[in-house]
Amino acid sequence: MKNLSFIILVLLVSCTGSHQSKEDQFVQNLLSQMTLEEKVGQLNQRTSQWEMTGPAPESSSDLLEDLKKGNVGSMLNVAGVAETYEAQKIVVENSRLGIPLLFAYDVIHGYQTMMPIPLGESASWNPQLVEESAKAIAEETAAAGVHWTFAPMIDVGRDARWGRVMEGAGEDPFLTSALAVARVKGFQGNDLEETNTIAACAKHFAAYAFAEAGREYNTVEIGDETLHNIVFPPFKATTEAGVATVMNAFNTIQGLPATANSYLQRDLLKGQWNFDGFVVSDWNSIGEIQTHGAASDLKEAAERAIKAGSDMDMEASAYVKYLAELVEQRRVDEALVDDAVRRVLHLKYRMGLFRDPFRYCNEVKEKEVIGSQAIHELSRKVARESMVLLKNEEQLLPLSKDVKSIAVIGPLANDKDVPLGSWRAKAITNSAVSVFEGIQNAVSADVSVQYSKGCNLAINERSFYTELTLSETEQADFNDALDLAKNSEVVVLVIGEDCFQSGEGRSQTDITLKGQQLNLFQAIYEVNKNVVVVLMNGRPVAIPELAQKAPAILETWFAGNQAGHAIADVLFGAYNPSGKLPMTFPRNVGQCPIYYNHKNTGRPNKSDEHVFWSHYTDSPNSPLYPFGYGLSYTTFEYSDLKLNKNEMTTLDSVMVSVKVKNIGERIGEEVVQLYIRDLAATYARPVLELKGFEKIELKAGEEKVLTFSLSAKELGYYLPNGSFQFEKGAFKVFVGTNSQELLEASFIVR
Ligand code: NOJ
Repeated sequence: MKNLSFIILVLLVSCTGSHQSKEDQFVQNLLSQMTLEEKVGQLNQRTSQWEMTGPAPESSSDLLEDLKKGNVGSMLNVAGVAETYEAQKIVVENSRLGIPLLFAYDVIHGYQTMMPIPLGESASWNPQLVEESAKAIAEETAAAGVHWTFAPMIDVGRDARWGRVMEGAGEDPFLTSALAVARVKGFQGNDLEETNTIAACAKHFAAYAFAEAGREYNTVEIGDETLHNIVFPPFKATTEAGVATVMNAFNTIQGLPATANSYLQRDLLKGQWNFDGFVVSDWNSIGEIQTHGAASDLKEAAERAIKAGSDMDMEASAYVKYLAELVEQRRVDEALVDDAVRRVLHLKYRMGLFRDPFRYCNEVKEKEVIGSQAIHELSRKVARESMVLLKNEEQLLPLSKDVKSIAVIGPLANDKDVPLGSWRAKAITNSAVSVFEGIQNAVSADVSVQYSKGCNLAINERSFYTELTLSETEQADFNDALDLAKNSEVVVLVIGEDCFQSGEGRSQTDITLKGQQLNLFQAIYEVNKNVVVVLMNGRPVAIPELAQKAPAILETWFAGNQAGHAIADVLFGAYNPSGKLPMTFPRNVGQCPIYYNHKNTGRPNKSDEHVFWSHYTDSPNSPLYPFGYGLSYTTFEYSDLKLNKNEMTTLDSVMVSVKVKNIGERIGEEVVQLYIRDLAATYARPVLELKGFEKIELKAGEEKVLTFSLSAKELGYYLPNGSFQFEKGAFKVFVGTNSQELLEASFIVR
């Protein structure tokens, strides 16, 4: 039975008045009834014990008792209508005020139906599609009783060694911002009160992806200019788009833990950017303030975190243990606690939880929505748009309909699990369509499609939670695979990484393909030159040998549940590939971090006479495949790059137009990319900066003129002190098909 206070809460919600003031009044009223302990309870987030996405907590207190007492404001890793209903019931029926829980879960690229991993989805360069995908993900998630996802991860990442690049949108702040906003809109919709939307969480604030040497959770040393121009823009953009929550980060930045950083959380986020949601810590990141050596005990860590603006404590139990005491001892002003609680209550109100704490709990809907045909169809569509054609010599692809025999070879060729990727929430093990299945399904019965594994991935045990173990280098026995290759017209070789080689806690010092995979390719290539390499991986991989020899390479990332069908769509030309790399592919790991928007250095130019220029002696500087790169089965010709003026003022804008024509024989989509270069500024600017893009579809022979506008917003930059500045001087503008093949024009800002 509901307690009396909860009924009063419900009555309060339904009283009249303007929407905003009604919400404010409700929250204020509730806050005024809360004891200090109850307030602190709202700031405490606990994991369920049956699913862990971080180090298992020491069970210092009894979760059930805490729930009953109102000591928990939010839970993570509780998902499913039955589960969320049960936990909610305990809180609503037993705690004094019956304030409902907020259920959070890491729904990163799907709840049960997996879309491609975020890095893959980002390769679509299609914000509309990405929004559609997030919307469908939100529908599945909400139908499972979950209110809040810890996504999108919007850390701009430049280092392929860092396993979590799979979770972001790559190396560019402009692209990341556009896709981050799309994801937030998709998750949250127009109204968080709708029960098919969920609250989003922009994470990790800030600079987590800049971990030294790409090693997970490592120290971050980053300059203020890079913070403002590269790291912050996606966070600012999602704040402007109304993201409900932000997660802070594990790392220190210049020695200060992000969780204890009041410049980040108070001055910038809640101050300058007016963020009205709340900040959740990362898993025990409040506790880790002490481990970093920036607090002498957990109590001091709690003090630093709340003062710095971390509102909710995920899994450190630091607030629930010490915050009330800190207030009583006047080390922390209760107004800070009130502000944090108010933010949490506002979200609960906006989601309608005070009206009905069980409004997301509908078992019929859960069954109907999760795993629907519609979401699987969308997953296939998103997957094929995320694929990047890296190489296609002599138009080996698309495969001809007349092919009579196809050998599908490789450790991932018939794998039904790896395509689901890491961070897979409630995905069903082995539920993806394998490439072998996809190809079989795509061809007529008279085509011979045969499979041979060839070799293993060299991974013995795999799970999200525990360390991967690599097997001893196995003795390669490629005989069956070679026989099959010899007797087939074409080989589709599916190789890459295990999905748990990337994701949290999965940094690598080597980004080549593990085990015997390259040898398998070489051996197959000896007996059959028609090898199409299909790659699955969660980070840029170093594949110079493949890039040199393989006639065709298709990057498919981890493409989700419909992987095999989507890959077959591309291989046979039912879909003309249109993906572009959101992250540079290096030649070797020694080039990492490698990114297109680097500074020029004082010595960029190659010298044949001496060694004193910025380079390696054992590798070119250039990447294997540049940012923005990706081929199509048709060809796009760029011409007529024009500016409407050659001079402008700082208050003005310049219009840039370009003609793009499909000069091939089939319909295709192209991502037209616009970059700028500020040639001389007070602070050295990058050699290229993406400032516009548009994905267009052109029929064979069709042409289109595209126009972009450049003004202060695109042409200015942030000084290290955070102020935005638009300096006069000469600029270059570039438009083209990737960050290396570009038309160029110039203008001056007077
Ligand atoms: C730690 C990760 O860094 C964060 O992104 C995730 O949301 C939490 N664990 C919760 O699982």
